[in-house]
Amino acid sequence: MDTFADPQVNINEKKPSIKFQQKTSVNKRIIIGVVIVAVLVVVIGVAIGVPLSRRGTSDANMNLALKVLRETPLIDGHNDLPWQMRQFTRNQVHKVNLRENTTMQWLHIKKEDMSEPKYPRIYPQTDIPRLKKGMVGAQFWAIFVDCGSQDKDAIRQSALDTTAATHTWINQYDDAFRLVTTSDGILEAFKANRIASLIGLEGGHMLGNTMGVLRTFYLLGCRYMTITHSCDTPWADSWKSDLKPSEYNSTNNITGLNEWGKKVIKEMNRLGMIVDLSHVSKQTMIDSIEASSAPVIFSHSSAFGYCNHYRNVQDDVLQMVKKNKGLVMVNFYNGYINCPPNKKENATLSQVAEHFDYIKNKIGVDYVGVGADYDGVPQMPVGLEDASTYPDLFAELARRGYKEEELKKIAGENFLRVFKDVENERDRLKGNPPFEDLYPVESLNLPCNTNF
Ligand SMILES: *[C@@H]1O[C@H](CO)[C@@H](O)[C@H](O)[C@H]1NC(C)=O
Ligand SMILES: *[C@@H]1O[C@H](CO)[C@@H](O)[C@H](O)[C@H]1NC(C)=O
Ligand SMILES: *[C@@H]1O[C@H](CO)[C@@H](O)[C@H](O)[C@H]1NC(C)=O
Ligand SMILES: *[C@@H]1O[C@H](CO)[C@@H](O)[C@H](O)[C@H]1NC(C)=O
Repeated sequence: MDTFADPQVNINEKKPSIKFQQKTSVNKRIIIGVVIVAVLVVVIGVAIGVPLSRRGTSDANMNLALKVLRETPLIDGHNDLPWQMRQFTRNQVHKVNLRENTTMQWLHIKKEDMSEPKYPRIYPQTDIPRLKKGMVGAQFWAIFVDCGSQDKDAIRQSALDTTAATHTWINQYDDAFRLVTTSDGILEAFKANRIASLIGLEGGHMLGNTMGVLRTFYLLGCRYMTITHSCDTPWADSWKSDLKPSEYNSTNNITGLNEWGKKVIKEMNRLGMIVDLSHVSKQTMIDSIEASSAPVIFSHSSAFGYCNHYRNVQDDVLQMVKKNKGLVMVNFYNGYINCPPNKKENATLSQVAEHFDYIKNKIGVDYVGVGADYDGVPQMPVGLEDASTYPDLFAELARRGYKEEELKKIAGENFLRVFKDVENERDRLKGNPPFEDLYPVESLNLPCNTNF
């Protein structure tokens, strides 16, 4: 879940150059010439382009996109439908029909059936018809509960309620979905024409500083954990601490992971749970990659070099991801794809494609994937409004010259490689005892924790 309520300070904001303010008659003549040429180009372009175009790109590009998505499962790293289920129905799964337009249905749900919104409502962008039209092969469904529940009832709300509800609807619509917990399972579900449904836990604030809770999440089917959401935990800093002092600084002096946090990473390696570094601070990214003996992912983050929001991945960290053989799954959210130094009036599909170009140019096509963040953000670029639009993105990448093999890597092969590596590392570590280190909770002020 990502919200516009998150403040962001942008650095390197560009001021308009003084040169553009000069006005000469020469410039005027050039401008008139350019306008005439532009009008001609548009007129000719429309005459040729319209018959060829289905979704704003040529048939050849769209045909390649559709072929890729038919032959390779499109694996998306992050969708917040579970959070929508919670905010709109308090996890009463029977109140929505995922076979029909969810946006429509949720508009009619009674207020008393909803949970109290902390953020303005985000209307759902996901349902079975839209996922099918979008040719989604596998989806990580994010288990998320607001950071305000940390050290209160986060575990009840997330583990014991939202995860259960997610299992309920995956099983209820078993002609569309199949619960999957392995890399082979993704391919089997894809062959059976089911959307492989994987579960990810979005935030270490839902662990209650307890290793056993991490293991319980694994037993419940979670195959990644995002180390933090947009709040610090006593053992790991979030991206917010790239902008202000860490919340737990006073007790811990950490700017990334502390020693217990590093053990969480190692326990995830031992379990075969993927380390997800979306939402964490830059230092937590660095510390986690150094602590992990398996590849890591960013389940829904874009390129900081193109749009300098701290939810995105900075260039030096991209180099670490390449070395780690990990994966950055590009987020489509307007707030993370359209900002300085490439800020435009409105976010566009083309800008999302620029993030793919950027990461591909920096570290290669083997380390980039898709993590759109549908149902977790209020606004998506024109052309990528909901979960039905993935083919348009792949057609745009094809138009930019991406080859079939490259599109297949981005769609799913890169993720499958990472997941297999994580499973192999788990197998290699088989026989190692679990980490049972206790967090020194007495160093924290936790009024809702009992001491017996
Ligand atoms: C779903 O319903 C919303 C709200 O009425 C509408 O704006 C949207 O176009 C619909 N989407 C589809 C795919 O039918
Ligand atoms: C927070 O930690 C940093 C790094 O150790 C230190 O420089 C700073 O003084 C600390 N701030 C507070 C408020 O404790
Ligand atoms: C935090 O840093 C200060 C100053 O270096 C040190 O005195 C204190 O013991 C540290 N606290 C913890 C919990 O590590
Ligand atoms: C941006 O979006 C607004 C609202 O939809 C629209 O009025 C405006 O013309 C758009 N601007 C550009 C440059 O496309």
